Amino acid sequence: MKNLAIWGGRPLSGKVYCDGAKNAALPVLAGALLMDKSTILEVPDLADVRTMVALLRAIGANVRRSQGEISVSSPGSLICEAPYDLVRKMRASFLVMGPLLVRCGKASIPLPGGCAIGQRPVDLHLKGFEAMGAHIAIDKGFVHASAPNLRGAQIYLDIPSVGATENIMMAACLAIGETIIDNAAQEPEVVDLANFLNSAGARINGAGTSRIRITGVKRLLGTTYTIIPDRIEAATYLIAGAITLGNVCVGNIIPLHLKPVLAKLQECGFSIIEGNKSVEINAPFRAQPVNIKTLPYPGFPTDVQAPFVSLCSLGQGTSIISETVFENRFAHAEELRRMGAKIRIEGANAVIEGVPNLTGATVQASDLRAGAALCLAALAAQGVSYVTGLEHVERGYAGFAAKLRSLGARIAVFDEAIEQASGFTARG
Ligand code: EPZ
Repeated sequence: MKNLAIWGGRPLSGKVYCDGAKNAALPVLAGALLMDKSTILEVPDLADVRTMVALLRAIGANVRRSQGEISVSSPGSLICEAPYDLVRKMRASFLVMGPLLVRCGKASIPLPGGCAIGQRPVDLHLKGFEAMGAHIAIDKGFVHASAPNLRGAQIYLDIPSVGATENIMMAACLAIGETIIDNAAQEPEVVDLANFLNSAGARINGAGTSRIRITGVKRLLGTTYTIIPDRIEAATYLIAGAITLGNVCVGNIIPLHLKPVLAKLQECGFSIIEGNKSVEINAPFRAQPVNIKTLPYPGFPTDVQAPFVSLCSLGQGTSIISETVFENRFAHAEELRRMGAKIRIEGANAVIEGVPNLTGATVQASDLRAGAALCLAALAAQGVSYVTGLEHVERGYAGFAAKLRSLGARIAVFDEAIEQASGFTARG
């Protein structure tokens, strides 16, 4: 288990640059299975990306990686079964179902389990595939789907699910006829996937709105595509600047994608300077109280909820943050309370009474955004904190410790195995 030691109380300042978006890279890599060859640029170096690359190779695609460039070719026949050990590690593995189903006529993918933030069912993905003519059977923890000829259909999503929208959209690209997805997810990462597929010859209209229309084509050609920057990573570093009362600029971003987060940071009283591809935050004082409700895009992103709870923990007054997307995404509150935060969970609401100081403690990351939130709190706390479970954070933040260090943070990475072997421990 890798841990972070963080000595808090130092205002961060300087500039960091975002990597490509994890939540764009993963569906785009799955979408690469729909075409003979593609090259994807600006892919972040993350554990989840390495898992997706391993999965593509396991189902027969040739994948070459050099720095942020990944080339995928799958001209031959693919293996239509995804290995359990990879799907277990990363739910986004389920995104290969649509491409495999439409290319091979069948697919067997382990049913992704729940995770720390909720049950995370895939019923809407399967509803879409069934509407397109697939036969679905669930047996011994696997979803077996078969459809010799997937046909276009009109599909209404009860929830604007990002993954279901992406999976169905990918299958529809090569299905026979037209597919309409109503109540589709509108996230920028969904639009990025549609742009990637269209650049290879797909015919997708309406991505970014609640109705996406896809006209199936016979085959997709190759393409070279650059994915969008990571808006969640950007929000995390802006909040790092705010929580430490510093002055941080985040480069290589699309400010429009951060609109709900920037609006809330301005409500907190911080000065926000938007550039063409950057945003700068200046935080001379603690956050004013705010009320936030997480919602599907263009609402406030659920992935920024945990970092914002940390920010409000050190704010002035009482803030209320409602989590409407996932049913169990307040695990960080318990850990923040161990640092002195005053947070009450009332159903889907976190009621946060701001305190002037947090104190360093040993805290446990339960998922990548909760882990990042605990690190942000540690950066502002008095004394040293140990955040265990860095593996969670590294799933979504490339070079996390190094980027924070470049902003002036005093942070060290410890590998518990080495600590035990050497008898040295960071807590000593
Ligand atoms: C994507 O997950 C992101 N992951 C998540 O980011 C993000 O939090 C989420 O979208 C919401 O924005 C990737 O893109 C790889 P959903 P996804 O399907 O697609 C329910 C991170 O930290 N639902 O939009 O799994 C579901 O339970 C991760 O980077 C169903 O009920 O999210 C949830 O309550 C965490 N049935 C809600 O919809 C379904 O078939 C939204 O889930 C599918 C989803």
